[in-house]
Amino acid sequence: MKKKKILFVGAEAMPFAATGGLGDVLGSLPAAIKNADPKGSDVRVVMPLYGQVKEEYRKEMKEEKVFTVRLAWREQYCRIMSLKKDGVIYYFIDNEYYYKRDTLYGCYDDAERFAFFSMASLSMLKQIDFIPDILHAHDWQSALSVVYLKTLFSIDPDYAKIRAVFTIHNIEYQGNYDFSILGDVFALGAMERSIVEYGNCINLMKGAIVTADIVSTVSPRYAEEIRDPRFSHGLDPILRENAYKIRGILNGIDYVYYNPENDPVIEKNFSSDSIEDKYENKLALQRDLALPERCDVPMLAIISRLASHKGIDIISEMIGGLVSKNDIQLIILGKGTPEYEGFFHNLEKSFPDKVRAMIMYDRDLSKRIYAACDIFLMPSKSEPCGLSQMIASRYGAIPVTRETGGLYDSIKGYWVDNGEIKGNGFTFAGYNSYELAERTDAAIALYNDKEQRFALVKKIMDTDFSWKVSALSYLEMYGELI
Ligand code: GLC
Repeated sequence: MKKKKILFVGAEAMPFAATGGLGDVLGSLPAAIKNADPKGSDVRVVMPLYGQVKEEYRKEMKEEKVFTVRLAWREQYCRIMSLKKDGVIYYFIDNEYYYKRDTLYGCYDDAERFAFFSMASLSMLKQIDFIPDILHAHDWQSALSVVYLKTLFSIDPDYAKIRAVFTIHNIEYQGNYDFSILGDVFALGAMERSIVEYGNCINLMKGAIVTADIVSTVSPRYAEEIRDPRFSHGLDPILRENAYKIRGILNGIDYVYYNPENDPVIEKNFSSDSIEDKYENKLALQRDLALPERCDVPMLAIISRLASHKGIDIISEMIGGLVSKNDIQLIILGKGTPEYEGFFHNLEKSFPDKVRAMIMYDRDLSKRIYAACDIFLMPSKSEPCGLSQMIASRYGAIPVTRETGGLYDSIKGYWVDNGEIKGNGFTFAGYNSYELAERTDAAIALYNDKEQRFALVKKIMDTDFSWKVSALSYLEMYGELI
């Protein structure tokens, strides 16, 4: 049997440029799939060459090809650069006019920038002489690569053979645009209009859902939730019609990058056999943040975008009471809406000996917090998969989560059955601050039962959240198409 050839198309990948979980996944899943395939697969990735990509990576890149990409009436420069990471070739679409910006997304011309990305990614295949068996596109930014493949490119026999998978990492962002740009920006004609048409405008994600051979999401639970109007942001009718091709595969995390046993940025390395060493990390963080240096105080953490759908609204309702009535410390790391940034600033002002709010993103600091803290709060309203609860577990921080999406699939409620520990966190179902407060109280109470706590911490650290199992599920899914 010949090697499977797979091309990932996505807007971000760690460590080159990333803003969130999508970047984590595109930085680690391709190599995991390659390594999991006993027959060996040829997995490659294509993403834009943003101005943010650091010189240390640019230095390693080699120029593959320079050509012109036609997008409607435009003729645009396109250079393909490449480098190899963990056995996976990453291609970068270089066009400084589109990608040398202050941000990865959120520009006035994102529609054009990502239409160009999709068109360039497909055009590239002939130029570099790599025709994959599977094109695997992720989220709205690369949705057009699936639409183009199945429409404009399908008359070419090489492209007609390619099967397409579209993965939804977050259904909230669908790529909605006015019909006035259908031809001029998206290079689509009247024939393709109905494919991308939804709710009286262009919806790129809908276009990819109806044209892809398989649609996947990042957890089994979310695969069900998105067929329900409470989660679908309007797309549930389309997902119900296409239910036969929807799959849900839980994400994993990069076990090399997230490894408390040899992580260079944390104070003291530790494993599930040396949980006591977590204290050194707690003391070091307390010292860094000028909090009272005490091992015995339970430390809670929130590392998140500070937005209501991450559960920050219900946190804000209960956290003041929790901090005032308990001997605890609370660390917040993240940015978000001015309302919540201000809220946590004020909380720190009200409880200067207990709370530190760091309104920023900092990956190294986040790992120091995971390593230091005892309880990790993640009560999302919806969560396609969520990676933080897995990272927290690996670093021995007990998660308190709401039962939704990937949180439901990865964290089960703790209880003790005849001396045996069941579950791996504290979970609740209703989206309200009472249940969150009640489960957080329970997690704090467990902190004072050192023996039980250590047993649970050991269990969560030993839970396997690596890509191993999921990579096999992806291979199986590709197998359905080849
Ligand atoms: C998005 C989702 C998050 C998921 C990540 C990676 O950021 O919101 O839940 O873990 O994508 O798939």
